[in-house]
Amino acid sequence: MRKIPNTFGIDVTAARFLEYSSEDELRKLIAEGRVIAPVLHVGGGSNLLFVKDYEGTILHSRIDALEITAEDEERVSVRVGAGVVWDDFVALCVERHWYGAENLSLIPGEVGASAVQNIGAYGVEVKDLITSVETINMEGEKRVYRVDECSYSYRKSLFKQPEMKTVFVTFVNFCLSKREHYTLDYGTIRQELEKYPVVNIETLRRVIIDIRRNKLPDPKVLGNAGSFFMNPVVPREQFEALQREYKDMPHYDVGADSVKIPAAWMIEQCGWKGKALGPAAVHDRQALVLVNLGGASGADILALSDAVRASVRAKFGIDIHPEVCLIDS
Ligand code: EPU
Repeated sequence: MRKIPNTFGIDVTAARFLEYSSEDELRKLIAEGRVIAPVLHVGGGSNLLFVKDYEGTILHSRIDALEITAEDEERVSVRVGAGVVWDDFVALCVERHWYGAENLSLIPGEVGASAVQNIGAYGVEVKDLITSVETINMEGEKRVYRVDECSYSYRKSLFKQPEMKTVFVTFVNFCLSKREHYTLDYGTIRQELEKYPVVNIETLRRVIIDIRRNKLPDPKVLGNAGSFFMNPVVPREQFEALQREYKDMPHYDVGADSVKIPAAWMIEQCGWKGKALGPAAVHDRQALVLVNLGGASGADILALSDAVRASVRAKFGIDIHPEVCLIDS
């Protein structure tokens, strides 16, 4: 039995926990029959909620290679091991003035998980930077998925589908720009940048880090998994009906017919911000984040999640869904 690392700080174990540092090592583990089902591949454990001990095999990549595969005046292509810490990769891109990843600064987790989850923040999603994803399946066979084969959408990908549970990401290929360009239109980014004498990739990373540190609790201090819920997308008519009642409801258009509503705002309107249910609480600075106040079990967090969802459903008629993966088998 081995403790499973997870940023919620929940005390859970796995029957088997296997790590590998190369594709060959992974193939060997598979060939030796050590990867016994059920199998769960984890990144940094920053987007998982374990409701009970895991009876199967937890796999974790420690592939930490990073190589430039192509480069010209405009762009650089890099092949990055699934086990590289995501923010170390962003820091390297910023240092080398490779543009595109800086808005995704300080997102917890690892490169492999970033491609599974399609991480996103401040107007950028990782799918915008990915060119292909390299994988190995339970037969030890390699397959490379081009980005257009990955079915990317908001916090979703092909790799999250149940039948892909035993397809393991080993490397992710990214393309970054060498031409200076920024995505600045989300929230208060432009305003925050005014604190600095110049707008450049370093100051933008600084601003993103400051915004995140202000709102999102440090998992080392207060266990959490970032946003617990996804922001729901509703038909425009439903939004317009709600807007008649809630005039200041924030929203973002998603195409002509749909509107995304921040779940954090609805949760706050329901009075949950900063409230606790036993040892689990809704964070007092960002209502989308559930936190472990200390000693919470996965079931405690789930009980809070269910109570929050029920309130939002009762007040707004909208179902919100966890973004965090629940592991309950
Ligand atoms: N808001 C509230 N109350 C709150 C927090 C937010 O009313 O307590 C409202 C505000 O109106 C604000 C709006 O919600 O304008 C959006 O808030 P914010 O910019 O903080 O973003 P979010 O929708 O709550 C999403 C991502 C975050 C990402 C930020 C910034 C999801 C599920 N979450 O949060 O991602 O960092 O945008 O881009 O889409 C994560 O996935 O773990 C994560 C932290």
